Amino acid sequence: MRLQNKIALVTGAARGIGHGIAVCFAQEGAKVGVLDLHESACQKVVDEILAAGGQAIALGADVTDEQSVNRAVSRLKERFGSINVLVNNAAVMPSGRIHEVHPDDFDRCIAVNLRGAYLCNRAVIPDMLAMRQGSIIHMASVTGIRGLPGIAAYSATKGALIALTRAMSTDYARLGIRVNSVSPGTIDSPMLHDFLAEQSRPEYLRQQFDAMHPIGRVGTIEEVASVFVFLASDEASFVTGSNYEVDGGLASKGEQPQD
Ligand SMILES: NC(=O)c1ccc[n+]([C@@H]2O[C@H](COP(=O)([O-])OP(=O)(O)OC[C@H]3O[C@@H](n4cnc5c(N)ncnc54)[C@H](O)[C@@H]3O)[C@@H](O)[C@H]2O)c1
Repeated sequence: MRLQNKIALVTGAARGIGHGIAVCFAQEGAKVGVLDLHESACQKVVDEILAAGGQAIALGADVTDEQSVNRAVSRLKERFGSINVLVNNAAVMPSGRIHEVHPDDFDRCIAVNLRGAYLCNRAVIPDMLAMRQGSIIHMASVTGIRGLPGIAAYSATKGALIALTRAMSTDYARLGIRVNSVSPGTIDSPMLHDFLAEQSRPEYLRQQFDAMHPIGRVGTIEEVASVFVFLASDEASFVTGSNYEVDGGLASKGEQPQD
């Protein structure tokens, strides 16, 4: 019960890693706002949490829409109280080199991944300041640290989130709000499965993903969620402005030796 007395909002929580974070938070005693585009999908996650004895509320909302975000935050507050943990996890990943990305897809990527985090931060920080207590965690990515092919727009937003984390941590450090980011490597998740399904040689590519990580495999959702539990908890009381690389060593990897 490392998150007892925490009220947490997790965006993009209907599936994948966000779902895993919401479930782990509830297992650790947090009351969780499960936010995603469709309320019915959020409700399925809430039902899973309730069945396991946890507490949660489904919040159908679009993080790119200010009113929608504010409504979701108000509903969570009315149900459980002021939010003291925010996980900005919702994201989209248009593929292609930068000249191949359609301007509409580029704008959507910035709107969800970066502006969405901004709007959620803006909605919860006043209460965190009033309580002088809060933990904000941005879901970044190894692609925000090192170049990986074919996902430039997405990578740009993840680099921006790491910079946003550092800037925000200095603004709020003395006011009780900690701000950190987590940069996973490739994670065995629906996003990965969707990406592989679009490729011509998915099995070969999956092996390449495993081999690319120094640890020899991609990560699991639980391996990412456990770092979020730590950063949300009071165990991380001296941790702010950090970017946690949960990537099997990928961000630190040097050049591959040539055979
Ligand atoms: N899967 C990976 O290998 C991997 C690696 C590094 C980082 N990440 C990051 O982890 C996070 C979760 O990734 P995932 O693999 O679970 O992705 P996913 O696509 O399975 O989940 C993303 C969720 O965000 C939601 N979402 C999208 N737009 C939204 C909006 N406008 N408003 C509200 N919700 C919205 C989607 O409906 C979906 O449920 C993302 O930030 C992603 O960039 C994933």
